[in-house]
Amino acid sequence: MSQLKPVIVLVLLVLCVCTAASAPLLIKINKGVASTALYTAPLSAGRPLVLDLSAPAITTPCSSGTTTTVTLSASTTNGANPLSPVSFAATATCAAAPSHYGRMSGAAGVAGLGRSSASFPAQVASTQKVANSFALCLPSDGRTGFSGNGVGAAIFGGGPFYLAPPADREAITTLLSDPVPLRQPFSGYPGYFVTATGGIAIDGSVAAAGPLVVGLSTTVTYTQLRADVYSRFIATFDRSLGQTAKVAAVAPFELCYNSSKLGSSLLGYSVPQVDVLLEGGTNLTVFGGNSMAQVNANTACFAFLKSSGSTTGPPVLIGGFQLENRLVAIHNAKQQLSFTGYLPARGFSCSNFNFTRAG
Ligand SMILES: *[C@@H]1O[C@H](CO)[C@@H](O)[C@H](O)[C@H]1NC(C)=O
Ligand SMILES: *[C@@H]1O[C@H](CO)[C@@H](O)[C@H](O)[C@H]1NC(C)=O
Ligand SMILES: *[C@@H]1O[C@H](CO)[C@@H](O)[C@H](O)[C@H]1NC(C)=O
Repeated sequence: MSQLKPVIVLVLLVLCVCTAASAPLLIKINKGVASTALYTAPLSAGRPLVLDLSAPAITTPCSSGTTTTVTLSASTTNGANPLSPVSFAATATCAAAPSHYGRMSGAAGVAGLGRSSASFPAQVASTQKVANSFALCLPSDGRTGFSGNGVGAAIFGGGPFYLAPPADREAITTLLSDPVPLRQPFSGYPGYFVTATGGIAIDGSVAAAGPLVVGLSTTVTYTQLRADVYSRFIATFDRSLGQTAKVAAVAPFELCYNSSKLGSSLLGYSVPQVDVLLEGGTNLTVFGGNSMAQVNANTACFAFLKSSGSTTGPPVLIGGFQLENRLVAIHNAKQQLSFTGYLPARGFSCSNFNFTRAG
């Protein structure tokens, strides 16, 4: 019998090590200012990396070679608070000069979140022994959008996600939509795409017929639509909201309104609702809080843009502003996307994550 004891101790030790290493990781997200409204995370010894849903790798400037090893730091989490700091080595692709994202944001590189075995979530999954999945809660800056202070959070590796104040301790992850299948309409593109089988509706009527390929981007600020989709979409919104509050356009937007004439609620300005009718029957619904950008004290504009130039990309590219203040979850193994509705409607914002270490 006593020979078994060391085995049991060993098994317990292995179990403990596994559990300790298998907690999801938490990162803090900062939204940049002004035109460089990129989302970054202080992952590289406190220096920021740009979060890019369409990039396949971690990228840092290095002078020689094609790859290098970087030490990244984050915290383990129970989904509600940080637990303990974690550092791990990751493989990064060398960029000869800082990428244009880097120059714009003062970032030390890019944390690619795309569909690739070299992406940040894939490397977290392999080094931390957690699922290759993540959930982003992108913050609003509280100026162009409602509810937020420019700080948000993301978790990698699954688990629940909570925002304070924990009135009823309901995890935000329980509010996620039914999963929508991720599609790969463009071979060689590492980004995430879904299909809007039913097109896009404004106040319940279809403005652009489906099916449309819909991409997700954290480096495009405002959703971009292919020219033909854009013109029908904008015309329908214009007709739907009417001319009463309309004011002169403020570039880059085409439809701007006197914001003191627009009513508002927890959903943001009371404007026609946009529904992206996704495969499987789930709608990505965009209320005023995610559709209207406050461009100055008196003016809010419908924050959708026409894709520039001849594009081979998706006809609909959802930008960061439309993803803010909702939880967006990507499960790579299952190839599924799910998301919550606009969280301020429930009294939360992505800036409510409690970054105080749990005692
Ligand atoms: C999705 O949006 C369309 C158009 O607004 C609406 O008719 C439909 O009922 C919505 N579906 C769900 C499941 O909410
Ligand atoms: C906006 O609306 C407010 C309230 O109706 C009005 O006082 C103000 O003059 C309007 N501003 C513009 C630029 O139309
Ligand atoms: C944040 O978490 C800490 C540690 O668990 C806790 O003491 C504090 O009350 C929390 N704050 C809020 C606003 O929930």
